[in-house]
Amino acid sequence: MRLAVLASGRGSNLLAILDAITRGELDAQVVGVFSDKADAPALAHARDAGVEARPLSPRGFASRSEFDEHLFSLVDAVQPDLIVCAGYMRLISDAAVAARIGRMINIHPSLLPEFKGLRTHQQALDAGVRMHGASVHYVTPELDGGPVIAQARVAIEADDDVARLAERVLQREHPLLVATLREISTGRITWESGGVHYGRRPLHAPLQLDDCNRLIQDFPA
Ligand code: GAR
Repeated sequence: MRLAVLASGRGSNLLAILDAITRGELDAQVVGVFSDKADAPALAHARDAGVEARPLSPRGFASRSEFDEHLFSLVDAVQPDLIVCAGYMRLISDAAVAARIGRMINIHPSLLPEFKGLRTHQQALDAGVRMHGASVHYVTPELDGGPVIAQARVAIEADDDVARLAERVLQREHPLLVATLREISTGRITWESGGVHYGRRPLHAPLQLDDCNRLIQDFPA
């Protein structure tokens, strides 16, 4: 499975993918890393791994759609089977998304549909929920609104602040993303008829990451 990764910053999820490939835990190849930030550490991680790293600044483009047309022409050139948004923090224009439905996923730091957008950990703390986490979903034009494939749940502790919570969620994001990619690479997770299928059947509730970092159905409530 050829992966193109979009990342705006730190790139720890990209590193998790690269490490899983190196360890033989994910049968995939990262064929390009693309960033809207020239100094994104994710680009350095890509170069260190011998992967094509392409910064593209939105400055100089008249509109979001012009930028996206150019960006995705670079992405298309590496012929990915799947595009992975791993900490990519720019909105993507509807046309660019619509042309790639079912071929682009995103990892988001909340249990979607709760807490879309930014500052998700603060949103969770403000809401007083006891369970938080991360989701991997197919990208559709609705921001953070595409069908959810899989989630990792993280309990909120009484003395949590944003930094502590964000760190614990991030530690679960990495195995969540790798496990989801593995299931896509083996063909167990597919996009069919406008929705997520698991083992060729429509998936009615997100898969859940268990303590052994496997994706399971029917997680106990
Ligand atoms: C991750 O927590 C990811 O879920 C989040 O950005 C962080 C990127 O970390 N993504 C979003 O908020 C997307 N809306 P990383 O650069 O270390 O992978």
